[in-house]
Amino acid sequence: MKIDVVIGLQWGDEGKGKIVDVLTPMYNVVARFQGGPNAGHTLEFDGKKFVLHTIPSGIFRDKTTNIIGNGVVVDPTVLMGEVDNLNAAGVSTKGRILLSKKAHLILPTHRALDAAQETAKGGAKIGSTLKGIGPTYTDKTGRAGLRVGDVLHPDFDKKYGALRQRHLAQLAQLSYPCSSLDDEEQRWRQSIDRLRTELTIVDSEYEINELLKKGNILAEGAQGSMLDVDFGSYPFVTSSSTVCAGACTGLGVAPRRIGEVIGIFKAYCTRVGSGPFPTELHDEVGEQMRRQGNEFGSTTGRPRRCGWLDLVALRYSIMVSGATQLFMMKADVMDSFDAVKVAVGYSINGVTTDRYPYDTDAPVKPIYREFKGWKKPISDSRSEKDLPQELLDYVKFIEEQTGVPVKFISVGPDRKETVLR
Ligand code: GDP
Ligand code: IMO
Ligand code: MG
Repeated sequence: MKIDVVIGLQWGDEGKGKIVDVLTPMYNVVARFQGGPNAGHTLEFDGKKFVLHTIPSGIFRDKTTNIIGNGVVVDPTVLMGEVDNLNAAGVSTKGRILLSKKAHLILPTHRALDAAQETAKGGAKIGSTLKGIGPTYTDKTGRAGLRVGDVLHPDFDKKYGALRQRHLAQLAQLSYPCSSLDDEEQRWRQSIDRLRTELTIVDSEYEINELLKKGNILAEGAQGSMLDVDFGSYPFVTSSSTVCAGACTGLGVAPRRIGEVIGIFKAYCTRVGSGPFPTELHDEVGEQMRRQGNEFGSTTGRPRRCGWLDLVALRYSIMVSGATQLFMMKADVMDSFDAVKVAVGYSINGVTTDRYPYDTDAPVKPIYREFKGWKKPISDSRSEKDLPQELLDYVKFIEEQTGVPVKFISVGPDRKETVLR
């Protein structure tokens, strides 16, 4: 059996949560493989809306087992808060969430370090979600981190105390005030106790490979390819492997077990936080995208930067992950646009290129191709024949430019608002 992978091809918030929810009935298992509570994955159905940060988006379908893999970084307070919210909404989590022993723990002091390091960067800040992601992955690769499996050992308190002390020393060096940590640390300790008793802590790589013998698995990516620690616009990136290869290391599955690589992209582009965004719009059209797309962060509420679809960046993401099919999201947001533009190349200092540049400050001028807007509401469309020709022309162009079929067009936030091609 195979593991199919859903990844974001842009700068995150492409609509991964909705897609995983729509695809889940075809799988017994959904597994998150990287990132942590910096993610905000939104699902809408039956007039209800949920935002998940750590728990896989398969949780709303009864028969699905949800795995939080070794590549994820887990904040116990956020995770148990999500469990409480789901239970309060009548969604059962008991026995349905398997948590990897090898996932690293986000400590309250990691969050403080995230804030302190961002403040120290001043104008050069990354625009982090301040959830402690960078400092936690730093401790992981620095071989100093605390893992979920450690909570089952008698010396956990000692290990926690030692790491906390190290962090406090780092925070003192950054002159960061730690007076407000007490409440947070108390809640964190309580959540650790709940992890031990309420969730199923497992050797997830063994579980996943056993489950793969019985059926296909869906891997749920977080963030987007252009935020990948290797291939994103470094240093304005997150700290994990957001590309397809991250599913192998973040779950412990062999590359040959990968099946479909489902790349998700919006019909336009957004980015939240700092860093290059070649097709960003600073005008009324960008405002219109933000307004109509409700482009405000699911985790932080920050307004998202908006711009035209960028095929240079998209082709790059497709190449790095080997996307086998594309899903286009939020096409309905452009319903009222007179024209729709898409960047097909860049001009940098007068030289034309179809490659994404290494330098984050390269003076990139996008070269656009313009399409006629479809100027009609599409959210009620349920099959391709309901869609306007102008939209289908736009989609066809994207397929020609990327060489990958667009299999799915999303026409609204609800799980029903989809067109499968
Ligand atoms: P994720 O992080 O990739 O899961 O995406 P987010 O949940 O952060 O952001 C996507 C937003 O767009 C959410 O508010 C979704 O409910 C919404 N959304 C998803 N698909 C569509 C769509 O086709 N049309 C519209 N209008 N909204 C969508
Ligand atoms: P989902 O899974 C959009 C961005 C932050 C910042 C940079 C680093 O919902 O698509 P971090 O907190 O990881 O150190 O922040 O990455 N970022 C996201 N942007 N969607 C996300 O997740 C993101 N997770 C992180 O805004 O620019
Ligand atoms: Mg999101």
